[in-house]
Amino acid sequence: MARFLDRVAKLVAVRRPVAPVAGPEMQGAPRIVRRRNAEALTDWRLMSGVARLIKRAANLVGLEIARRDDEVRHFAHTPSLLHQRIAPLATYSPWLNDPAFLAAYRRVRDRTALDIYRCYELWSLVAQLGPSEGCILEVGTWRGGSGVLLALADRAVGGRHQVYLADTFRGVVKTGQNDTLFRGGELADTTAGAVESLSRANGVTATILEGVFPDETAHRILEPILFLHCDVDAYRSARDVVEWTLPRLSAGGVIVLDDYGFFGCEGVTAYGNELRARHDLLFLHNLNGHGIFVKR
Ligand SMILES: C[S@@+](CC[C@H](N)C(=O)[O-])C[C@H]1O[C@@H](n2cnc3c(N)ncnc32)[C@H](O)[C@@H]1O
Repeated sequence: MARFLDRVAKLVAVRRPVAPVAGPEMQGAPRIVRRRNAEALTDWRLMSGVARLIKRAANLVGLEIARRDDEVRHFAHTPSLLHQRIAPLATYSPWLNDPAFLAAYRRVRDRTALDIYRCYELWSLVAQLGPSEGCILEVGTWRGGSGVLLALADRAVGGRHQVYLADTFRGVVKTGQNDTLFRGGELADTTAGAVESLSRANGVTATILEGVFPDETAHRILEPILFLHCDVDAYRSARDVVEWTLPRLSAGGVIVLDDYGFFGCEGVTAYGNELRARHDLLFLHNLNGHGIFVKR
């Protein structure tokens, strides 16, 4: 019995249930296959029957029993980029009683791949930009959710910054050997018209840049960049977008690198780690999957 309980303890963690936050970034993660021999299989059947009973009992008192996910994994060709489930212990959730944010988030959540944590962080960063000169740029807009949220955040604080939303509208581009899951052409299921309608429906004005950024569309931006949300999924795309931005970034300007740390976005994580070496940028790794850089 002690051996059995010890095995159960190794396999499960008890926690209070939390609402799952969807993230398409994990969809392509390789399946983890566990092999079991005949003896282990008998053990396993017995354990899973008892486990089901324990789970039901726990549910009755408001607890959820879930399989522990503390495995360390990495892609074969990026052995230094290690991943393990991150579960911070703090619980303060200011987005839950921020009515302005919640109203805006409800308007865009069906049009974004970002979870509420990243949305709230974008919202609060833009709200702190103040009246400084420069524009807000998002590269990798897809269906417009996070981009329109940036515009709503700016409007909520009376910001009046020009907002540019750039996308190929032909999907992910410039993938290469640094990228693990993305091959090119993913996320082409959107149009500039859809983003335009979402902006209009929310009463915000944004300039939509259709084409590969910076190659085909950056020439249309003439002002300095105060805020960049770079959400492009691939190493070379992220590098080209950020390298174009850096000489144009205002002092105190912010770059948010989405995908930093997501399993399957090793190219962007690797590029973020290159950027960390720069002395003119302050770096913060937000465990929600954002690399944040502030121009000193
Ligand atoms: C993960 S999606 C963006 C998600 C979006 N921010 C949201 O709120 O859901 C990535 C997008 O980046 C776009 N993209 C990738 N590289 C690009 C580039 N160099 N220029 C413009 N768009 C790019 C793709 O077309 C795709 O729509």
